[in-house]
Amino acid sequence: MTQRWTPQSWRNRPATQIPTDYPDPAALARAEDRLRAMPPLVFAGEARRLKSRLADVAEGRAFLLQGGDCAESFKEFHADNVRDTFRLILQMAVVLTFAGGKPVVKVGRIAGQFAKPRSSQVETQGDVTLPAYRGDIVNGMGFTAEERVPDPERLLRAYSQSAATLNLLRALAGGGFADLYNVHRWTLGFIADSPQSARYRELADKISETLAFMAAIGVTPETHPDIRQVELFTSHEALLLNYEEALTRVDTTTGDWYDTSAHMVWIGERTRQPDGAHLEFVRGIKNPIGMKCGPTMEPVELLRLIDQINPNNEPGRLTLIGRFGADKIADRLPRLMAATKREGRSVVWSTDPMHGNTLKAANGYKTRPFDRVLSEVKTFVEVAGGEGVHPGGVHLEMTGQDVTECLGGAQALTEDDLSSRYHTHCDPRLNADQALELAFLVAEKLRAGRGERSAAA
Ligand code: PEP
Ligand code: CO
Repeated sequence: MTQRWTPQSWRNRPATQIPTDYPDPAALARAEDRLRAMPPLVFAGEARRLKSRLADVAEGRAFLLQGGDCAESFKEFHADNVRDTFRLILQMAVVLTFAGGKPVVKVGRIAGQFAKPRSSQVETQGDVTLPAYRGDIVNGMGFTAEERVPDPERLLRAYSQSAATLNLLRALAGGGFADLYNVHRWTLGFIADSPQSARYRELADKISETLAFMAAIGVTPETHPDIRQVELFTSHEALLLNYEEALTRVDTTTGDWYDTSAHMVWIGERTRQPDGAHLEFVRGIKNPIGMKCGPTMEPVELLRLIDQINPNNEPGRLTLIGRFGADKIADRLPRLMAATKREGRSVVWSTDPMHGNTLKAANGYKTRPFDRVLSEVKTFVEVAGGEGVHPGGVHLEMTGQDVTECLGGAQALTEDDLSSRYHTHCDPRLNADQALELAFLVAEKLRAGRGERSAAA
């Protein structure tokens, strides 16, 4: 029997990955109270709008682009970083829209992506073992006993950084930066000479021509203000439920509960236990929800989880994010897609080609070979085609910065290059050049898929 849901009901369930070693639980409770008094970061109406956009994706009429840092950090917080990630999302969306001929729903892993699940609870260096780093919202990355102590003040700092980030994103989205007439100016300096940049310029030329044509027939920013702005939504993993609960509020228009920390939240591969705290929490909030699906997921388990999160089968409510690994996806994904299709479950199927393709380089750096990332995306689109399911989206760890964290790509980064600009606070991200290359590849695959379908029709 289902128990009554409240924003706190997750506290009666077994919780994995939530720290239990706050030295002063009363200080944590005080921090949560202070958060409860803070304004919401997003509005329920915005989350509902995202849900309706995702319903379009679920029904095959749009494509989802979700991406950003693995972990945002206090140290790397800078307006330029936010702007560069935003610009990369715009560029990728242009590539995908043009190829797919469908609207692209843009969702950042941004303005709240601070808490990290860890495979190991501790980290050992030499003969010292300390609690693992759990993201800046919990503890510090430095390898010292002091830094690894969970600090409740970090919840407040994460909130205020999220608010500042979101404020900048709203200004960028609506204040002229995202104007389609600027499509040529979004190119990032460091990829100016790369093959991706040449391809992008070609596309931008076509868009400019199209805009000129549209202006000639009377479709201008004055008549269609949409050309001047974009809609960007925020998302993060709902991991530290103390934080999520404190930002969960009743929407006065509908009486429903929304987690106002982001438009969309997801549950990760390590926290999707059917009887666990994270499932309990997301079940009661009305935001669009994501769920990671890894290589051990079986169809019966998936269907049970879908019924818990989306009992009324509402399109746009649930996005399934496959993260199998390039070597496992062809074996594991078809049965899951077949199950959702056969059972008539309305979901968005998206691919995260990052988390199943992580490895340790000989020099100790955690990295991801770009060709494996590409290969997982290709297989995703092919499997979806075979199952008659819409390949709805991609979920990426990426940054607008010129980092050297993933191997390969047009710059052919090698293991020796990794140390030069390795800045991530958790997993390795695609740099802007690699992310754009991936967008072109997805665009080609989507176009081919369209061609095949119309040829078959
Ligand atoms: C993540 O998205 O950063 C993550 C930890 O993913 P997963 O839960 O799929 O491992
Ligand atoms: Co990650």
